[in-house]
Amino acid sequence: MKEIVEAKFKEIFGTEGRFKTYFAPGRVNLIGEHTDYNGGHVFPCALTMGTYATVREREDKILNFYSINFDELGIISSSIENLVYNENENWINYPKGVIWALKDEGYNIEHGFDVVYYGTIPNGAGLSSSASLEVLTAVILKDMFKLNIDNTKIALIGQKAENKYVGVNCGIMDQFVIANGKKDNAVFLDTATLEYQYAPINLENEKIVIMNTNKKRGLGDSKYNIRRAECEMALEELQKGGLKIKALGELTEEEFEENKYLIKDEIRQKRAKHAVYENQRTLKAVQALRDNNLELFGKLMVESHNSLRDDYEVTGIELDTLVEEALKQDGVIGARMTGAGFGGCAVSIVKTDKVEKFIKNVENGYREKIGYNPEFYVVEIGDKPRII
Ligand code: GLA
Repeated sequence: MKEIVEAKFKEIFGTEGRFKTYFAPGRVNLIGEHTDYNGGHVFPCALTMGTYATVREREDKILNFYSINFDELGIISSSIENLVYNENENWINYPKGVIWALKDEGYNIEHGFDVVYYGTIPNGAGLSSSASLEVLTAVILKDMFKLNIDNTKIALIGQKAENKYVGVNCGIMDQFVIANGKKDNAVFLDTATLEYQYAPINLENEKIVIMNTNKKRGLGDSKYNIRRAECEMALEELQKGGLKIKALGELTEEEFEENKYLIKDEIRQKRAKHAVYENQRTLKAVQALRDNNLELFGKLMVESHNSLRDDYEVTGIELDTLVEEALKQDGVIGARMTGAGFGGCAVSIVKTDKVEKFIKNVENGYREKIGYNPEFYVVEIGDKPRII
């Protein structure tokens, strides 16, 4: 991959000068969905798939962006002095947003650069290609300008770019796990405090199989922001009713059941129920893994999917079909949608010796019902961003 992106860089921007190449992973969330903006827990891991970039510093203020994934767009130029969101500029709003966020936080970005990006994560599939691009850009800038900034702050900068520049009200999960990922470990993160622990994923006889619906979606045009607003409103109703909480993630299932009458709308009640139960499920799932009880972990994955389908309503026929088909197969431990939903990917854990048959059968079942093929990735858990 390094060779591919460096060769393209030389072709597009010439061979003179010094350039460096960097990598940042994508991510898959194992459990804890739509909890990260509700002060709950998440349990994602970084992937070995990710985004590469080759970069050369410039002496002027110009930014020249090129992506191998968007060859047809050619070089898109901008300037560190003109960091305004532009819908027509497509993917470069993510790196531009990161430069904007860094400057906004007082970091000194003195000059421009030429950069070629290359992502091996499928775009818009819910595996965080955009967060990977954001974190990668922040890591490049940290190195280029010797910024005093740790990986958690890098994640917050990426989130700020997404929230305030791109306009998606995402939580911190994606940027956080991408910035802090660790090979063969999931990241057990409390989004209320940003405290985290690594949890080894010792799958001796199983594989993580990601199933892509191939239904394209962008978070910006999805109902993501609406879900977040519904949760915020439900929280406000609970607070007005007298509950001394700062986030839905502070509630146990019992506390929620006792107080849910304070939420005056049935739909908002369902949204809040998901946020509370999913957070508790995540705690149980991490404990199950610590107890080496993979079977229970898988069961909780399925419960998570059902809650996202029935109470949070972010799955849709494509994701539901993938999970239904997956659960029919021999050797499946668990399956659920992953990421924001509304299309994108589902994640499953499958016995290694059954993976081949699993993929074939799920593909057939999905095509029969949906009319086109899904895609599958048997993935490995990867490390945080680095210079390569
Ligand atoms: C997207 C967002 C995350 C998180 C998930 C849902 O990936 O970027 O912050 O909210 O959806 O869990």
